[in-house]
Amino acid sequence: MRNNLIEKAKKVLLGNKKRGFTLPTNNKLYPAQWKWDSGFIALGYSHFNLKYAIDEISTLLKGQWKDGMIPHILFHDLNTNYYPNHSVWNCGNKIHSSGITQPPVLAIILKKILDKNKIKVTQKIKIKSMVQKLKKYHEWLIKYRDPKNTGLVSILHPWESGYDNSPLWDYSMNEVKVEKNLKYKRGDNKVINPEYRPLDSDYDRYVTIKNHLRNNKYNPKHLYKKSMFNVVDVGFNSIFLRANKDLLELLKIFNFEHKKLHKFILKSENKIEKLYNKKKGVFTNYDVKNKKKIVVPSITNYFILFANLKNQNINKKIIKNLKNHNLKKKYMFSSIKPNYKKFEEKRYWRGPVWINCNWIIYQGLKNKDKKFANIIKEKTINLIEKNGFYEYYSFKTGKAFGANNFSWSASLFLDLIFEKNNN
Ligand code: DGY
Repeated sequence: MRNNLIEKAKKVLLGNKKRGFTLPTNNKLYPAQWKWDSGFIALGYSHFNLKYAIDEISTLLKGQWKDGMIPHILFHDLNTNYYPNHSVWNCGNKIHSSGITQPPVLAIILKKILDKNKIKVTQKIKIKSMVQKLKKYHEWLIKYRDPKNTGLVSILHPWESGYDNSPLWDYSMNEVKVEKNLKYKRGDNKVINPEYRPLDSDYDRYVTIKNHLRNNKYNPKHLYKKSMFNVVDVGFNSIFLRANKDLLELLKIFNFEHKKLHKFILKSENKIEKLYNKKKGVFTNYDVKNKKKIVVPSITNYFILFANLKNQNINKKIIKNLKNHNLKKKYMFSSIKPNYKKFEEKRYWRGPVWINCNWIIYQGLKNKDKKFANIIKEKTINLIEKNGFYEYYSFKTGKAFGANNFSWSASLFLDLIFEKNNN
């Protein structure tokens, strides 16, 4: 059964593959290259075709902006029904792109690939140049998304988190004044049942913020202050801290300068604890724009485990709380804790189970609570065995929603299956 599924997973990836990159899914929902999808996809390929894995990241890095930013979407095909398309974003370097970024998973993925594969000399040269580009990207995030040198970076659009319509953003989004006479035409809810997608009121704000960024020419020097949305997100910062730790190792391997990064890591490790609520044993977001703590029980707050904090007291408390997130349930993890008032079983990032969240948490847990980590791994594999390689799933029934043949679900399934020695 599992062997069959391994072949199916490979087929999903190969079915979505274009020249040099892979679509998140083979239907019309996401007809471009997405940044964090591409990272997960590369990891999946690395288990059966190292060249494809390296090509995937290489192509993504071709779209890097001159200042170092790596966009969240690269539009290789200009003729699609996706909204917002390349002309609406109206930016990009060499390749048309969006004007915002997405979670910085690439250094983590690249290190994983390097750790477990024999790399040919020619591939090493390619990887060295990738590491250099990632260094530039991380420097961009530090310089422009943490201009006050706090050790924590901001996101300036909910799409930058990857969990677009999470209740995490509800407060901040309500504060955004929707542009007058806003005109746009969504494509997503023609492809997928609108009950499973963000609301029009969410899109009104996504588009308003996007237009504002565009009107400011995506100038990172001014946007930290000016953006209509500025949030320090636990998930994004946890991924960034882990990625910085992995990048540090990569910089050492290739003899690149790394002292500044090391300093930033020490600062982040310390300052991220500012987001920790000791009493409740949870991490919470901070809305910089509106100066407000955002307390929402999102699974992404547990990405802190992935950052491998040295503070074991915190790690222990977090794990204890994580065990209560979906207490003794058949399916986990719901993206939002089910007893939360705004939990929705079927709607995108407001409740459903996502394979990448389970994978990130599993990676963060396996060196801290192996038993619990293995339960999550088995439950994630079983969910896919029963319901297929979908975009997301009901936490109550396991029923699949969103796009079928979803690349990162296939990729991360392969990674969980093929993982060696739990490292
Ligand atoms: C979408 O189109 O739904 C994407 O998540 C935006 O990046």
